[in-house]
Amino acid sequence: MKKAFPLPSGRAALVPSVLAADFSCLKDSLAPVRGLADWLQVDVMDGHFVPNLSFGPDIAAAVAAASGLPVDAHLMVAEPGRFIDAFAAAGAGLITVHAEARGAGACVARIKKMGLKAGLALRPKTPLKKIIPFLGVLDLVLIMTVEPGFGGQAFMPGLLPKIGAARALITRSGRAVWLQVDGGVNAATAELAARAGADSLVIGSALFKARSPAAFLRALRKKV
Ligand code: DX5
Repeated sequence: MKKAFPLPSGRAALVPSVLAADFSCLKDSLAPVRGLADWLQVDVMDGHFVPNLSFGPDIAAAVAAASGLPVDAHLMVAEPGRFIDAFAAAGAGLITVHAEARGAGACVARIKKMGLKAGLALRPKTPLKKIIPFLGVLDLVLIMTVEPGFGGQAFMPGLLPKIGAARALITRSGRAVWLQVDGGVNAATAELAARAGADSLVIGSALFKARSPAAFLRALRKKV
């Protein structure tokens, strides 16, 4: 069952990344973030677009059911067109494809046509101008602050200007587009990213490795 995406007002959306949760007990691992997280991100990896292989639509459906939270499917896959329907059927209310993937533009159009929210993600080296043709239809732009493929990497501070430039582009477009940052987000880098203009923060390792994920989110909520 698809849950509508909440529109956090005047603060950043906090989005735990399931990639860093305890796969042996997902329901228990996600329990502490219920009521505190705005939505969850399922990092989908195909072993081609990125070297890692993660999970498919059945896990996304299980995560949606176990958490009761809206699910954002971040497709780090070479051919996203092959997977959109399956993740939509699994209950993803927002599907993000990579600008570098095959048929990204057609995928964005298809996601919108299905009545879902559409995101476009950029690898660190991909120029920001790639999002310009889509700003009129996108619901979310994702600026990767690590090379996609694995959790637990260090935030790349050299990408802060790209976040700021993306915020300026979105503001000029006059559309309410979320600016999401994903990769190495922790208490310190979350503040940097939010100050640069991010309003959706994907947090994996820093959150699930915290002694208390709930306390981590409550503290972060006070800062961004
Ligand atoms: C990389 C993944 C990770 C993950 C967040 O492809 O997208 O960035 O979601 O993991 P952390 O917060 O551990 O970097």
